[in-house]
Amino acid sequence: MILGIETSCDDTCAALVTTDGAVRANVIASQGLLHERYGGVVPEIASRQHLEVVDSVLDDALERAGATLADVEEVAVTRGPGLIGALLVGVSTAKALAASRRLPLTPVDHLHGHVTASMLGEDPIEPPYIVLVASGGHTFIARVDDPGEYRVLGETLDDAAGEAFDKGARLLGLGYPGGPEIDRLAGDGDPTAYDFPRSMPGEGLDFSFSGLKTSLLYTLKGSDPLSASHSDLAASYQRAIVDVLIARLEQALEHEGLERVALGGGVAANKELRERAAALGPAVWVPPMELCTDNAAMIAGAARFGKPLQYPDYLALDAAARL
Ligand code: KG4
Ligand code: ZN
Repeated sequence: MILGIETSCDDTCAALVTTDGAVRANVIASQGLLHERYGGVVPEIASRQHLEVVDSVLDDALERAGATLADVEEVAVTRGPGLIGALLVGVSTAKALAASRRLPLTPVDHLHGHVTASMLGEDPIEPPYIVLVASGGHTFIARVDDPGEYRVLGETLDDAAGEAFDKGARLLGLGYPGGPEIDRLAGDGDPTAYDFPRSMPGEGLDFSFSGLKTSLLYTLKGSDPLSASHSDLAASYQRAIVDVLIARLEQALEHEGLERVALGGGVAANKELRERAAALGPAVWVPPMELCTDNAAMIAGAARFGKPLQYPDYLALDAAARL
């Protein structure tokens, strides 16, 4: 079994995954409530909280898997990208665990984890495929031919799609994280009531979402707060984000000539995005929610295709805010 550790942002995660991709335990201790009143993740609070709970999260994962440290053959940890102080807690914990048992340790690129999340479980996607990863921290489309690698075809030039949901929700006076709230409200709204911009910058498959929140801000300023319908605003705003994600996916599929699609990241929970992706034609893999949002199972899973470091080489391993 591979023990995975993920602490790149505001979730403290540990998981046990077998070498054939079965998830034996996937524990996620979310810090969401701690950061809620600040309207976003506070890095220093995140690091401290990781330190507080990482040992019990590890114990919990082992217990749920019915395993002990003696069953662990390899340790995998998110090396980056992410918040440096948060990453360091995971990397240090992984090094200590691995070194004490002389186990190999595999450093994992967090984004590679999202890219290969659909390769876990009973019905794993097989390369080649196109993957759309859309979360609060990142938004990109990649092509996967070899499970150990991915080629980014397009990425956001400014805000991530989840960030656009969160910032929009904030302007609408909804809670954090805003994606689920907008998703819910949009269900009762008219997605054509307001016209928000669909930005598709450049010749490639890049995204840009920062103009969207500005557009919402001006729409709110220019409308009567009593008559403006929040569900219409949410539905129209969501439609603008999903339109762009789907348009880029379509372009990627056409350009690359592939038949399989995977979705990942927290925004993959979005109802409209799922429905529209399913209607595209090619087979679509959407992992269960706990594998879409940040988790350690995807990190342990990606480590299967990575390069393990042997003791004592990994003692010099450092976290990296950017890879
Ligand atoms: O992957 P994730 O848990 O954390 C990051 O790595 O960022 O993604 C969280 C993001 C948040 O921005 C949240 O608003 C968004 O995913 N999200 C959604 C939905 N559920 C979560 N966005 C749209 N619709 C949803 N149902
Ligand atoms: Zn992530």
